[in-house]
Amino acid sequence: MKVRGTVRPPGDKSISHRALMLAALARGTSELSGLLTGEDVKSTARVLRQLGADVSSVGAGTVTVRGSRLSTPASRLHCGNSGTSARLLLGVLAGQRFPATLTGDASLRRRPMRRVTEPLRAMGAHIEEAQGDALPLTIRGGRLHALTYTTPVASAQVKSALLFAGLTGSVAVTIREPYRSRDHTERLLLHLGQNLRDDNGAISYQPSAVKLPAFRLSIPGDASSAAFLLAAAVLAEGGELLVEHVGVNPTRTGFLVVLERMGAHVERVNLRDEGGEPVADLIARPAPAALRGTEIAAAEVPTLVDEVPILAVLASRAAGETSFREVGELRVKESNRLELIAANLRAVGVESEARGNDLFVRGTTQPPRGRIETARDHRLAMAFAVLGTLPGADVRLSERASVAISYPRFFADLRSLRDTRTGKREA
Ligand code: S3P
Repeated sequence: MKVRGTVRPPGDKSISHRALMLAALARGTSELSGLLTGEDVKSTARVLRQLGADVSSVGAGTVTVRGSRLSTPASRLHCGNSGTSARLLLGVLAGQRFPATLTGDASLRRRPMRRVTEPLRAMGAHIEEAQGDALPLTIRGGRLHALTYTTPVASAQVKSALLFAGLTGSVAVTIREPYRSRDHTERLLLHLGQNLRDDNGAISYQPSAVKLPAFRLSIPGDASSAAFLLAAAVLAEGGELLVEHVGVNPTRTGFLVVLERMGAHVERVNLRDEGGEPVADLIARPAPAALRGTEIAAAEVPTLVDEVPILAVLASRAAGETSFREVGELRVKESNRLELIAANLRAVGVESEARGNDLFVRGTTQPPRGRIETARDHRLAMAFAVLGTLPGADVRLSERASVAISYPRFFADLRSLRDTRTGKREA
């Protein structure tokens, strides 16, 4: 296919969750524009309402949040499919003096939670497990103490939960991580005037004695959602695509760095700042020559952790082998992404294997044909839908509805970027 036109990806999922939570904790009414309308963000909004915050409906237009002192919820807090909601809210609840029970859907109830509950317990929160290292969990926060902690995995969710516990419990936290994970929470806290420092990778946060002020925030487009559109343009046979208003925070743009190594350049224009986050418009064109396989190093993984499925799809069209080092965390995402990427690539005729914590993909020029099991994982559905845009492809997805988690308009946007002016219509 050929591509053309302009697409604006949905609001950044990570920033949307954080903005809602901080607005719910602030004094007064905050206004959030460009918020993601995906199911995960709706889960956060719903739980915050159960806790007493007045959050307007998450749909088109500005969302208003009237913060308040959070209070005992009448029922369980259901986080749906959203790991970010569950883990960050544990941090928010750690500083509250009432009990609350968090749960989620079957996928979320399989995901590990001790990475958050262990350090929160060390701060003084009481947390009861019903099913071992998983949801449901009942947390009763209270008087917390300061914490200095090194996270065993580079996880922005863990780091953010601890920063939120520091905020709601009014105690200092210092966090180190093996590799730098996305820093949206740090940027937002700084943007709101909080006292936070980064000393050679050690994040030190000393919450201010006064309540957070209400704020206005415009949320950039999600770089992880944009990655699917950019990949479709790189794989296309001609044309040019403009993807507007994309967050280009360097802790999120590993995808663009790897794409460059594979031989595809995405141009960044109109670089600007939105609420402490860098934003740009991106111009993508088909790769000028065949893509090249590459090695993705462990230190790069946090900067592209959600882009491994789409990078693996690109690697399946690149010359030679691509290796992804130390991507074991993918086993505990919305699905066992590590095994499912390899199995689904094999299902469409690509050599791929997960060995230990590494993933290997060998490129081919054969059109992909076969059935994809998405396991209702939104990023698997979108990555393999992009593979299905190749000439001669016959890629059937087990379901498509999961894209509503992070990118409700995905299929409409993917259709819109096809240039059908050549007269050749694609299915
Ligand atoms: C997120 C962090 C990442 C990412 C997830 C969103 C966040 O998870 O995979 O989609 O908003 O903090 P980890 O930090 O657990 O790797």
